[in-house]
Amino acid sequence: MSINLDVLNQRFEKESIEFLLTCYLEAHKGRIALASSFGVEDQVLVDMMLRIDPTVKIFTLDTGRLSEETYSVIDQTNRKYGIKVDIYCPDKEALEALYQEQGVNGFRESVENRKTCCNVRKMEPLRRALSGLEVWITGLRRSQSPTRETMQLIEWDEGNGLIKLNPLIEWSEKMVWDYIIENQVPYNVLHDHGYPSIGCAPCTRAIREGEELRAGRWWWENPEHKECGLHLKGN
Ligand code: ADX
Ligand code: SF4
Repeated sequence: MSINLDVLNQRFEKESIEFLLTCYLEAHKGRIALASSFGVEDQVLVDMMLRIDPTVKIFTLDTGRLSEETYSVIDQTNRKYGIKVDIYCPDKEALEALYQEQGVNGFRESVENRKTCCNVRKMEPLRRALSGLEVWITGLRRSQSPTRETMQLIEWDEGNGLIKLNPLIEWSEKMVWDYIIENQVPYNVLHDHGYPSIGCAPCTRAIREGEELRAGRWWWENPEHKECGLHLKGN
């Protein structure tokens, strides 16, 4: 990798997120996209990015197991901003084979099964979504989880071979919600019912008081397994 990430990170850490996004959206126009799960962080970025470039690519991985509330916020977002986000679905043959192999909810039976399901429903569609891009943008925050504490604002994604930009990496949950309220950005109503982190419906539950933000994701597994592969180094 020839770009010096330390220098870039130092430079942009001092700037506003709007400035960072403006620079990257301009420099990589047509080859940059936001990956959105339609969680509240991604909604901040949708709002900010569309103000800068109303044509910017926003995509979601529709695993086929998302909740009704998530489909609703996709719809509300499309309507509010007059856009149609790109949707990437799992390969139909791989999906049929997955069912033959592990049934409907086989992901509960072992970590291996769960990873296979995430591979078919998320990882392969992600690779397609990223092909031809130079930069992908995510809504990751360091304080979401111990597994995210060392993530940087600007990273090189070795596994996918492109730059990964995490503009909200230093933001607190309060900063995210202040932005959403102030700018009247639509959000997933599950956030109002104890779901700070939202993934596929059968793999997400509400958290209880005192639990960490991602405790409701794959709650039956050990905490060290709680990344589905989208954000593991070297995929
Ligand atoms: S996950 O890896 O555990 O699912 P999480 O839900 O915390 O990730 O979301 C972190 C970031 O990953 C989001 O801000 C978004 O950029 C990306 N992401 C997660 N799920 C999806 C999805 N279904 N489609 C597109 N991007 C996603
Ligand atoms: Fe499958 Fe659950 Fe992963 Fe969604 S989160 S792809 S349902 S294992």
